[in-house]
Amino acid sequence: MTQIKRLAVLTSGGDAPGMNAAIRAVLLTSASYNIQVLGFEHGFNGLFEQDFQTLHPKHVENIIQRGGTILKSARCPALQQPGGPAQAAACLHQLQIDALVIIGGDGSFRGALALAEHYKGQIIGVPGTIDNDVDGSDFTIGFATALDTALDAIDKIRDTADAFERIFLVELMGRHSGYLSLAAGIAAGAEQIICPEFGPLTPADLSSVIKPIQHAQLLRGKSSYLIIVAENSYPGGTSALADDLTKAIGVECRAVILGHIQRGGSPVGADRILATKLGAFAVEQLVQGAHLMMAGEVNAQAVLYPLSQTGDRKKAIDPYLVRWQQQVCSD
Ligand code: F6P
Repeated sequence: MTQIKRLAVLTSGGDAPGMNAAIRAVLLTSASYNIQVLGFEHGFNGLFEQDFQTLHPKHVENIIQRGGTILKSARCPALQQPGGPAQAAACLHQLQIDALVIIGGDGSFRGALALAEHYKGQIIGVPGTIDNDVDGSDFTIGFATALDTALDAIDKIRDTADAFERIFLVELMGRHSGYLSLAAGIAAGAEQIICPEFGPLTPADLSSVIKPIQHAQLLRGKSSYLIIVAENSYPGGTSALADDLTKAIGVECRAVILGHIQRGGSPVGADRILATKLGAFAVEQLVQGAHLMMAGEVNAQAVLYPLSQTGDRKKAIDPYLVRWQQQVCSD
């Protein structure tokens, strides 16, 4: 057991529904060990600006159901500058913080590793991102909510697409990962899914998108057709892809960019539970001496995973669903 008297928590990178639930779990679990908790604001920027508050149980009352993060979030260019990690570590030392909990994605965990080269206390990560692209946890906090948010929107687009028998391209978030696009595409019954894991799509290989559309037209006649596209999948974006398709097939293709709506909203039950479990587990493991680990969940069990390996991108999108989508749905 490590003697932790004072712990700090921050939320970093793209916010995700359930981050508040994780903060609550960190605070309540820490309180049960008589550990004082400081909350840094605006991610790692709070370390540079000494922007923090001492958290008490009253601060986390009625936040489990709220989207966003009471600590605010941000990316932190200062941490990537020469001398940045040392400066951030100095702030933690000055405030006598024995351990730091970072709630964020793999970019935030890379920042944590840089900080660890100068910081003498313990560091633990809690995976919070709608992208679900963190190795070491089957799911990340926020993914389940973002999926439902995206689905709600896609179902509505399907209604109007159906009424007009139109082709729609719906762009979802996830610039490096297609978890959200694959899951939402499958659950919405989309005809096509385009995501980074399928390799780059360029104007030169548009035929791979066009052929299934034409095949469906032959088979079903005029009808609605949905293509879910992960952001960053095509040069110029999804609007450019819709324009190029329109020109190539002579049928109007409409683009809808869902954007940041996917990051907001009240977390669904699964995210509240995951966030509570991982926030609590992170503190318990810090007390047991964990350092440079991430608190994740694999096969419903809370597990520790080396922070240095969380960005290795070994976790693949479901190969079964990919094959099914490509062989059965796109044909
Ligand atoms: O990492 C979460 C995420 O929402 C990604 O899906 C998206 O590519 C990115 O953040 C957007 O970041 P920003 O809000 O800074 O534009």
